Amino acid sequence: MYRSHNCGKLRSAHINQEVTLSGWVQKVRDKGFMIWVDIRDRYGITQLIFDEERTPADVFEKAKELGREFVIQVTGKVIERVSKNPNLATGDIEILVTNLTILNTANTPPFTIEDETDGGEDLRMKYRYLDIRRNPVKNSLLFRHKVAMQVRNYLSQEGFIEVETPYLIKSTPEGARDFVVPSRMNEGQFYALPQSPQTFKQLLMVGGMDKYFQLVKCFRDEDLRADRQPEFTQIDCEMAFVEQEDILNIFEGLTRNLLKEIHGLEVDTFPRMTYAEAMKKYGNDKPDIRFGMEFGELNEVAQHKDFKVFNEADLVVGIAVTGAAAYTRKEIDKLIDWVKRPQIGALGMVYVKCNEDGTYKSSVDKFYDQEDLAKWAEATQAKPGDLICVLSGVAHKVRAQLSALRMEMATRLGLRKSNEFAPLWVVDFPLLEWDEETERYHAMHHPFTSPKPEDFELIETNPGEVRANAYDLVLNGNEIGGGSIRIHDKELQSRMFSLLGFTPEQAQAQFGFLMNAFQYGAPPHGGLAFGFDRLVAILGGQETIRDFIAFPKNNAGRDVMIDAPASIDNEQLDELHIKLNL
Ligand code: AMO
Repeated sequence: MYRSHNCGKLRSAHINQEVTLSGWVQKVRDKGFMIWVDIRDRYGITQLIFDEERTPADVFEKAKELGREFVIQVTGKVIERVSKNPNLATGDIEILVTNLTILNTANTPPFTIEDETDGGEDLRMKYRYLDIRRNPVKNSLLFRHKVAMQVRNYLSQEGFIEVETPYLIKSTPEGARDFVVPSRMNEGQFYALPQSPQTFKQLLMVGGMDKYFQLVKCFRDEDLRADRQPEFTQIDCEMAFVEQEDILNIFEGLTRNLLKEIHGLEVDTFPRMTYAEAMKKYGNDKPDIRFGMEFGELNEVAQHKDFKVFNEADLVVGIAVTGAAAYTRKEIDKLIDWVKRPQIGALGMVYVKCNEDGTYKSSVDKFYDQEDLAKWAEATQAKPGDLICVLSGVAHKVRAQLSALRMEMATRLGLRKSNEFAPLWVVDFPLLEWDEETERYHAMHHPFTSPKPEDFELIETNPGEVRANAYDLVLNGNEIGGGSIRIHDKELQSRMFSLLGFTPEQAQAQFGFLMNAFQYGAPPHGGLAFGFDRLVAILGGQETIRDFIAFPKNNAGRDVMIDAPASIDNEQLDELHIKLNL
């Protein structure tokens, strides 16, 4: 028996018991006649004491050999500590060791394995297994497990069953590039790893499974960011005989249940906002509504004077930043530089200081009088003490720029509190999106999303205006999940493919299996997928998903621990019928 208790278990109630513990040496303090060792496992830390007088001499000698991260087994008596440690669950006791076995030695670790470590990101990624021993990473993984169990329980109780779908498939378009796998047995042919199980879950509905879910790996070859990994996990769901309302209700229920079970929070019915409204009010289809700073459109009150920049703009729009009227000239200049950075791309920024005495001081006083500026303040809901920041230009660009500024100012003002949760449904997404580069429409969600029946007639005349039965769940400014009611009619699906620029032959070659299935009694169906890593990170009060993934990839898509991707030898390439052209 390696252990009678784990390293987080023992309390005063165990005093005088003989126990056996196994774990890693976290710390050794050798005072010559007395040696203290902290032993650690997943459950906690317990203090061991080796005493020249009370510990057998050979055991005492062996204790002197211990180094950091040695794996040991000890037996001894639980005794009361002289100086108790209130910060440690086991801090009232220590173990007076009578027997010590060194189960394994360890090299000195490349960084300290404590909550605060001296290891940089790269080093910790390379030795991820050591990083996992640290509380912050370990706790993130425990937290992920807890959320996963809660999700599985909730959905099972709601009648969903978990079905696994294949990973070696044909492309399922979700807007990213595919990772492909060459087939040895089928010369010159490739599988694609799923960007999502989208088509399979729809086929499960044709198969009569009714309510499906899966915690499933998805693979997307896209540029990485804090909230993106090339392989990530979805809570993927699909339901038959449902309307949008049914789906929103179920997944609002799931999210509410998670907030309650994980954080003890009771959240009211989630607000809903149309895509158009979200873009107009926040310049963004995933607005963070933990704080206000809503956009005030100023065309009507800013395009009647001689200020050419505004007069020529498609949209003039501003936000009121609380308390920022006190900014110095230098601070405002810095802010202007910030919006002019290439990542944001604004050409400049006009500002209005709303003075405490009710007057206004702006960077465009030459053109606008106090009466004009008062109207701007009204439109942006600015109060005395606020700074109104105004951008102008082409509507979609200027909205994105002001949205970035809004988020930045909220961060600076400490309005993005990680222990506050503000979920929101964004509904009525456009069906199609015009792509300037390829000069054609793309499905905004994916090609299987159904248009709203009342917008059907616009499909031929004004495709860009057609709204979809598509929705996203947004939490604290992050897109947690998205889904739609699907097309279940073969004719409509073919029309959709043709709108998206597929020839009938291409559509048949790529999605024939789905359209065939639709000929055998496809029920009306719909669903959604949550990004599980994102959900866990945000519930955990963070926005970087890497910390909640056991073995993540770095920003270049590499696993630096196992050094992947890597080249393969010529023999393997030959077997796969691949000639490299490097
Ligand atoms: P979508 O493409 O919106 O929908 O993906 C669903 C959710 O998955 C998360 N997500 C990611 N998380 C981490 N890294 C990534 N690279 C990444 N990409 C997406 C997001 C996103 O909201 N099949 C449809 C769902 C449906 O229609 O039912 C789909 O995959 O949180």
